[in-house]
Amino acid sequence: MITSKITLSLVFSCFCMTLFAQKNTSISSPNKQITLKVISVENGNLSYQVSYKNKTIIEPSTLGFVLKRPEIILNKFQLVGVDSSSVDETWKPVWGEVSSIRNNYKQLIVKVKDKSKADNLLNIIFRVFDDGVGFRYDFPQESAIKHFIVKDELTQFNLAGNHKTFWIPGDYDTNEYLYNTTKLSEIDAIKAAKKETDIALQAIIGANTVQTPLMMKTDEGVYINIHEAALLNYPAMNITLDKATFTFTSHLVPDAVGNKAYLQAPFQTPWRTIVVSDKATEILSSKTVLNLNEPSKITDVSWIKPQKFIGMWWEMHVGKSNWFLQGNKHGANTENVKKYIDYAAKHGFDGVLVEGWNEGWEDWFGNWKENVFDFVTPYSDYNIEALTAYAKSKGVRIIMHHETSGSATNYERHFDKAYQFMKDHNMNTVKTGYVGRIIPRGEHHDSQWMVNHYQRVAEKAAEYKIMVEAHEPVHPTGLHRTYPNWLANEAARGNEFNNAPNLGLVPEHETILPFTRLMGGPMDYTPGFFHFQLNQYDASRTTRVKTTLAKQLALYVTMYSPLQMAGDFPENFDKHLDAFQFIKDVPVDWDDTKVLEAEPGDFITTARKQKGKENWFLGAITDENARKTTIKLDFLDENARYEATIYQDAADADWKTNPEAYKIEKKVVTKKDALNLSLAKGGGCAISLIKL
Ligand code: NOJ
Ligand code: CA
Repeated sequence: MITSKITLSLVFSCFCMTLFAQKNTSISSPNKQITLKVISVENGNLSYQVSYKNKTIIEPSTLGFVLKRPEIILNKFQLVGVDSSSVDETWKPVWGEVSSIRNNYKQLIVKVKDKSKADNLLNIIFRVFDDGVGFRYDFPQESAIKHFIVKDELTQFNLAGNHKTFWIPGDYDTNEYLYNTTKLSEIDAIKAAKKETDIALQAIIGANTVQTPLMMKTDEGVYINIHEAALLNYPAMNITLDKATFTFTSHLVPDAVGNKAYLQAPFQTPWRTIVVSDKATEILSSKTVLNLNEPSKITDVSWIKPQKFIGMWWEMHVGKSNWFLQGNKHGANTENVKKYIDYAAKHGFDGVLVEGWNEGWEDWFGNWKENVFDFVTPYSDYNIEALTAYAKSKGVRIIMHHETSGSATNYERHFDKAYQFMKDHNMNTVKTGYVGRIIPRGEHHDSQWMVNHYQRVAEKAAEYKIMVEAHEPVHPTGLHRTYPNWLANEAARGNEFNNAPNLGLVPEHETILPFTRLMGGPMDYTPGFFHFQLNQYDASRTTRVKTTLAKQLALYVTMYSPLQMAGDFPENFDKHLDAFQFIKDVPVDWDDTKVLEAEPGDFITTARKQKGKENWFLGAITDENARKTTIKLDFLDENARYEATIYQDAADADWKTNPEAYKIEKKVVTKKDALNLSLAKGGGCAISLIKL
């Protein structure tokens, strides 16, 4: 149920005229901690400024566009009017970290016209929440600008200091980087990208351009996150830093011929978002990005279900078997997949992902061929009819894999057949993938055309009641509110990178991701690796998993997703069935979430309450440093007892030398108790708290 209170008033009168014919107007967040000021210079720039607890965090920053058709620069304006309003409502997500979300903001719409051509109209819509600001451009129907091509967006974010920053290089095609932590003045995206030579697709933008979500911390301890929300029919935003002034300017991803966006009025751009707090934990609980997205477009959501799955997947990554049919190493053969179905049924998993089931894998990588996959032709040793019946008899669903090898147009041509094929074989979830260059036009993964493609996938899949998770897509921007069947995405360096020879992960990686990539939505991180040296089936491999086993468990809580994989394969789980129990028990949907402590790059401790039940689950992770912490259980119910099962690093555990050493302890606890946790280097702790 949505309850909402909307008030509308004109606040023209509060303008104060200054000597420079400058008009200012401002609004504050409902709790008054954030103030947004809009500064309009007559026939000049329009800028906005943001302060938090009376300190400026965004200094005057200008707004506007360069259009290519018509050829105009939209950055000198006359003010036409302003509207203000406020909203306070609550809504219930189909699934999520909490069961109810408050959407409470003050809104200011600033209406301007182009200085040189009065009927070129533009509105800027600002919303100020208790924990951040969102703003978007609105090209209204009445504007003379009808069909237009965006050459550049001129939005600035002028920061008030040389902040500590967690960043990845700006790139048109991939976000699968390790994070760099430097001062703003020390950003060098080209140098950082050069260390990552194995990312085949690098479309690096320049030394000073980085991606969003961008996480910063001021010297005074204020955390600032810049991103975007509701990215639809528009390219993704990277941002370029001017080091002289610490000002970022938006840099949109171009299409194959260099244009940024083809638009038609009325049109509203994605929201530009600035989330701010002096508590790192509040950044992680912010719902501003979600609130700026439209409510669900899917009315019957009864078929959308959070889920846990295992996969015929990691064994191919570590070289036990192959995606393609050749010799006797084809992983997705009927007998092998049956074993996975048995294992899923035995341990209560909803699904089994099967990769390499369909023809095309001999020829899929790096050849830029358009029609490698048709998404409906199984390999000859994969008896899909038999497996469909078998999975059904065991109460397990096979999860479909649609690797497109970058040929998104080819995928669209096959949409209907491919999704009908899934329905015919009792499948309701698909993992998509976009490895390689986008063909045939040479689009970028993050361009307007591809942004529209990902939306078409979500919409077309919904027609067939299919849930989606995408690998190699654009960065998420909270669209899972609008398309709740779009459960998760990769869109960052995932756990699977532990197996990448020259790249890999670092123990701090998972303490940064929730502050960056996950600000836009859930990630298919694929936690749950139980075997650490990845030379089990290929002696030449030197790759290894860079966490302890206990940390792999904790990630199910700290790395939120409604779709969680148990990444490793059965024979490795079987060696640690007592620890595997946590993965079996941990839910994927929640009534409540409390981020108990957090510092980007260092540690995160999160507690979550199971949806519809009285149980809590806790995950604590650390970076390369060992860590001791005391966690008060005061979030538990009054007068109740819980059985705590604590999956902890053993005293001698260490991600490097002894990752598999863990201990499991059980005890009865109440709200009055506190737990002393000891996390190893690269370690973690997972706790289930079952109400007695
Ligand atoms: C990359 C994906 O991230 C991975 O999970 C998948 O197995 C391969 N592509 C093959 O599609
Ligand atoms: Ca650190």
